[in-house]
Formats: sequence, structure tokens, C-alpha cells
Amino acid sequence: MPHPMISIQNLSKAYPSGFKALDTISFSIQPGEIFGIIGRSGAGKSTLVRCMNLLERPSAGKVLIGKQELTALSNADLFKARQKIGMIFQHFNLLSSRTVLENILLSLEIANWPKKQAKQRALELLSLVQLADKTHNYPYQLSGGEKQRVAIARALANHPDILLCDEATSALDPETTVSILNLLKEINQKLGITLVLITHEMDVIKNIAHRAAVLEKGKLVELAKTIDIFTRPQATATQELIRASLHLELPAPLKNKLFKSPASGSVPLLRLCFVGDQVDQPILSEISKTFGVKANILQATLQWIGEIPMGVTICELLGEKSSEALSYLRENNIQVEVLGYVSGH
Ligand SMILES: Nc1ncnc2c1ncn2[C@@H]1O[C@H](COP(=O)(O)OP(=O)(O)OP(=O)(O)O)[C@@H](O)[C@H]1O
Ligand SMILES: [Mg+2]
Repeated sequence: MPHPMISIQNLSKAYPSGFKALDTISFSIQPGEIFGIIGRSGAGKSTLVRCMNLLERPSAGKVLIGKQELTALSNADLFKARQKIGMIFQHFNLLSSRTVLENILLSLEIANWPKKQAKQRALELLSLVQLADKTHNYPYQLSGGEKQRVAIARALANHPDILLCDEATSALDPETTVSILNLLKEINQKLGITLVLITHEMDVIKNIAHRAAVLEKGKLVELAKTIDIFTRPQATATQELIRASLHLELPAPLKNKLFKSPASGSVPLLRLCFVGDQVDQPILSEISKTFGVKANILQATLQWIGEIPMGVTICELLGEKSSEALSYLRENNIQVEVLGYVSGH
């Protein structure tokens, strides 16, 4: 295991009001990783990301960047260490009185770059984010996606090892979101920069994160590979986020008809999850043939978690041998969740 890029140890944050926004959080992020942090509004995501570069002082615990303990540095050393951590925000935070070029030059000036090299670096960054033709525009002359590209260029100016993104795509339409996520992916792959993505949108996680952590009321309730977050979420908070994002909530009329245990003549209502190669297997036809059961599909979706396909189906399973069919599905590693029972037809 390489040394972690970011290591958060027993981190807590109470605001002066006494409100505890983060409660004893520990985890680490590996070099080159794209790490997502998700959670509902108010869960503590922004507080956590601001503690990672000490924009916010934790009340307790440690933050290490590489082997350096940020929480133990003097102000002068912290200033230096922060240059290796870029950050972008939901509302871009560009200076409106400065052109695109000047916005980027500013962060180079602060880091004492000689003028000539700074200009060269800024132009190089603008071409990386494909904005070479907007060099002398002012922020008001740019679209939201373009503003975020400028913010990304500015954040990369001092060759950071880490880029922290707090809701970087939340103010953008879906198409622009995809283009910004692709740019971030490219930056991760080409420059090897570690990305931390804070978001309340599961789609962002699904699209680009390698692993993700779930925050709920200031606590870390889950941390797993993205595919596992989506296919076998453990914490209730995670399960709710996934269900909402897959649009697989049971419609109320069906929910109301559901009972917890089987009764005479009832049939199970199932949520089946197929991952990877399982998506290509006609397993519902197989159980139909082998056990004489019929699957009545009520909802189905196929999604891609990074490179891995995931299918989720909600169906009723009719037939006398439905429990044998369920065992067969489980033996074949299909994830089966019995949501309840409905009266048979
Ligand atoms: N400066 C502050 N003083 C007091 N309480 C604060 C402060 N900043 C945040 N909080 C509280 O801490 C909690 C976590 O806030 P935070 O901004 O970290 O949440 P978040 O997960 O980023 O939410 P969102 O998705 O809405 O951005 C909230 O209940 C918030 O009201
Ligand atoms: Mg926030």
C-alpha cells in the first residue's frame, strides 16, 4: 500500500455555536484516486472538505497530506502546503473585475512566480481547459461551464497534488456537468492529481469516483468502492440516496398493498440486482424454465457504474416454486431483496 495522499484521523468540528458538524471521522485517500464524498444537505460535506486544507480549523483530530501533518504546521508552512491543494467551488468564485488570464495570474503572483513564466503557465493552463480563445474575456462574458473551466485552470496553476471540488457541477446543466466531469477525469489521468469530489448528486459519483464515503449528520456511515456503494449499500442513508438516484422507489399504491410476511396465495415482490457479466445472462428465463415460475417485471433499469454495467429489476415472482427459484438466484450470486409480499393474481 503506498502512503496515503490524505489521511483524516479522528476529525471533529464543532462550530462556535456548539453545533457539532463533524464527529470523529477517520479515513484515507490514496494518491491518484478519485474519491467522492456524498450526503444530504447539511451532512457536513463542505465542513469536511474545508478541514482538509484547514480553511476550517478542526476542533479535534489530525489532517495529514502525504507525511505532513497540516494541523501541526506554522502559518508560513501551511501557506506553502496549501499551494499543493487546489480547490474549486459550486459558484466558481472568480474575480469579476479581472479577465480570465488575470484570474489565473493572480494565484501565480501570490506564489511569487516571475511574470514571464507566470504568463506562459497561465496560457498553458487555458489551453488545457480549452479556453485559449477566451483569454481576455471577463467572467460575465462566460457560460457557467466556461467559468468552472477557468476556476479549474486557476486551481491547477501551482501544480497541486490534490484538487478539492465542492459541488463543482451543481450549478451546471446535465450536459455541461458531463463535460466538466470528463475534464476532471482527464486531469486525474494525465496529471495524476488526486481528486476529492463533494457532491449530493449520486450521478457524479457513479460517473467518475473510484471510491466514495457517505456522510450523515456529521458521521461517516459508509466507505466503499463505487460499485459496492451502488450494488450493496449498507447504511440506511446510502440505501436511500441510491434508491432516489435510480428512481426505483416503489409507487405509493404498490407500497400500500405490500405486507411483511407471506400469506396464503401471496407472491414475493423482489428487487434483483445484476452486476457485470450477470447483466448478459438470461437468468429470469432460466428460473422460469427450471421452476415453472413467472416474473412480472414492474420496473427495470440498466446503468453504468464507471465501466461496470448494473441492472436493477423490481418484479413479482409467481408460481409454487418461487422460494426454490429465489435460492437458485442467490446461489448464482444475484442480489435478491424481498421487499414484501402482495396478494397473488
Ligand atoms: N460557520 C458555521 N457556523 C455554524 N454552523 C455551521 C457553519 N457552517 C456550517 N454549519 C452547520 O454545519 C452543518 C454542516 O454544514 P455543511 O455546509 O458542511 O453541510 P453540507 O453537507 O456541505 O451541506 P450542502 O449539501 O447543503 O452544501 C449544517 O447543519 C450547517 O448549518
Ligand atoms: Mg456544502
